[in-house]
Amino acid sequence: MIPASPPRADREVRVRAPGKVNLSLRVGARESDGFHPLATVFQAVSLFEEVVARPSNDLRVTVSGQHADRVPTDMTNLALLAAQLLAAHTGIEAGVHLHLHKAVPVAGGMAGGSADAAAALVACDALWGTGLPREELVELAAQLGSDVPFPLIGHTAIGTGRGHLLAPAMSRGEYHWAFAVREQGLSTARVFGVFDELIAGATGLEPEADRALMQALRAGDPHALGRALHNDLQHAALELAPSLAEPLAVAQDAGALGVLVSGSGPTVAALARSRQHALVIAAAMTAAGVADEVMTAVGPVPGARVIQTTRGS
Ligand code: C5P
Repeated sequence: MIPASPPRADREVRVRAPGKVNLSLRVGARESDGFHPLATVFQAVSLFEEVVARPSNDLRVTVSGQHADRVPTDMTNLALLAAQLLAAHTGIEAGVHLHLHKAVPVAGGMAGGSADAAAALVACDALWGTGLPREELVELAAQLGSDVPFPLIGHTAIGTGRGHLLAPAMSRGEYHWAFAVREQGLSTARVFGVFDELIAGATGLEPEADRALMQALRAGDPHALGRALHNDLQHAALELAPSLAEPLAVAQDAGALGVLVSGSGPTVAALARSRQHALVIAAAMTAAGVADEVMTAVGPVPGARVIQTTRGS
């Protein structure tokens, strides 16, 4: 074990990492490792998790912001696991106090927990001075969960494998979103379980990249993107939470260019024509009482990065 150079007690590193929407999520049949092969297109959106890392003798986490009470603070917390993995990987003997400020819905299908883990990797790497190249952090991220590498990279990317093998995708312009958030989250594992029941007996579901969608992104055409949005997990999410049909319908009536469940849900994402239109859709969902909360955001945005370093006095 290499002892980390003793950091000043009041030193801190602040990192911001984005949530995501799967613009397209195509899912194949479960494989022998228990995971499903995916072909997905991620877009990072401007709902940001903020993680502050400070020196500590042990590994601990505190949480504030949106539904902070629903985030575990024991060693099941993905951000703590990220810090532990980085320490083990680099042979550093150091603790950290991570403070997570949540803005991405908890268990909402927008990878908020994964963004925390990605931000924790970047924050600890800076705090401990381990200086790993981004590609090495991405490899560590993939060990933590299928959705953890993407918030490190951000922007727009194609994900294959379990969704963890990323290739950057060309995208032009800005896309405006309204989100309907449901207080009660959905378990990713459960949604994949219902997906298995729904496709029982079907074979040959090889996930493919989406040509029309990639073309829409290259052209910067939100109307074409709206038509190409697709989620193979949507039926499974609706099976577990049938009331999700309501925000989908309300957003469509409010003129959304496309609507879908985000990832494994239960957040519903509606693509708008403009920032103003996103606010109109959000207002319509609020007025109809079909969401516990509504949010608007724009994408794509960059991946996890240090926004402030305080050196200590
Ligand atoms: O990788 P992660 O921990 O986020 O996955 C959570 C659960 O979602 C897995 O345990 C698995 O049941 C399911 N999953 C899957 N196929 C994927 C990704 C996740 O079946 N490609």
